Amino acid sequence: MPRMFPSPSTPADIDRAVVLLRSGGLVALPTETVYGLAADASNEIAVRRIFAVKGRPASHPVIVHVAGATALDAWARDVPEAARRLADVFWPGPLTLVLPRSARALDVVTGGQDTVALRAPDHPLALAVLKAFGGGLAAPSANRFGHVSPTSAEHVRVDLGVEVDLVLDGGPCAIGVESTIVDLASDPAVPTILRSGAITAGDLERVLGVAVRLDRDDAGMEGGVRAPGMLAAHYAPRAGVELVSASAAAERAAVLTAAGSHVLLVAPADVPAPGLTAEERLDAPVEPADFARVLYALLREADLRGASVVLVVPPAESGLGIAVRDRLRRAAAGRG
Ligand code: TXA
Ligand code: MG
Repeated sequence: MPRMFPSPSTPADIDRAVVLLRSGGLVALPTETVYGLAADASNEIAVRRIFAVKGRPASHPVIVHVAGATALDAWARDVPEAARRLADVFWPGPLTLVLPRSARALDVVTGGQDTVALRAPDHPLALAVLKAFGGGLAAPSANRFGHVSPTSAEHVRVDLGVEVDLVLDGGPCAIGVESTIVDLASDPAVPTILRSGAITAGDLERVLGVAVRLDRDDAGMEGGVRAPGMLAAHYAPRAGVELVSASAAAERAAVLTAAGSHVLLVAPADVPAPGLTAEERLDAPVEPADFARVLYALLREADLRGASVVLVVPPAESGLGIAVRDRLRRAAAGRG
């Protein structure tokens, strides 16, 4: 069941979104993970406009958003049983399936690869648009290339504002980090997580009954572009990011401050940092899922405060904590 929450966008906005999409327009849509910048996946010119607006290299494939599992065979071929099981259990939801593409999937969507990434988002507004639109919607996260993903309509307006034809406001995203991406195209017998998200390897293994591989090695993949969203600097704020343990935070903050850095500490409120003022710290939730929900807003706030280094005490590495730590490590590597 899709989660329902009150949203400032109305049925008239949904109609307008569909009209715009049918005529090649760009519509920013809320999903349960992050906001997406959507265009008709069957309209090459419209999809090219997404790349132009985001400043994204053309070789980077985008996810095709669909209303549900019945769309699998339209966009993919030789759909393995594992993909159907996962779609049945987790869609609509934060899981993207990489499958051999059908003829319908355009090169501009797949980056010229022989695979396509598919996902049914779990947000009432996105699903309403998808159902009324009828086709697939190509939608990367609605941020400028290299910036952190937007988790509110306001983030989208700040990043892409005038260049988007319509921003649907569905409130803050319930999950806050991008979907789990699972590759079932390379070898359907060995499902491989290309990007971690709310659906963990354990969740997938419980449904499939086979071991799931975690592909951690493509973090700075320079040549190949299998999951180019995984490039190191991809999730970085302007400030440098450093991960630190709770017990080492105060000492590290002092060292950096002495060296002239403008430090901002993102950590649970009980982590001591006697040398920092209230302005120099942001409280982070202890629970991994709560941390994920506010992660990108915290990184944006760090930039607004003019921090040069964001010191982060990350959540425990379980559940959504795995995805949060993954994004933070990439941010750290990107600007290290
Ligand atoms: O939660 C999400 O997935 C959000 C919302 C809007 O649905 N979308 C999102 O899109 O994060 P984007 O474009 O920012 O990231 C898509 C990721 C990229 O890392 C891209 O390389 C990967 O999906 N991807 C797309 N098509 C692929 C393919 N055929 N094979 C492998 N990776 C693919
Ligand atoms: Mg993105």
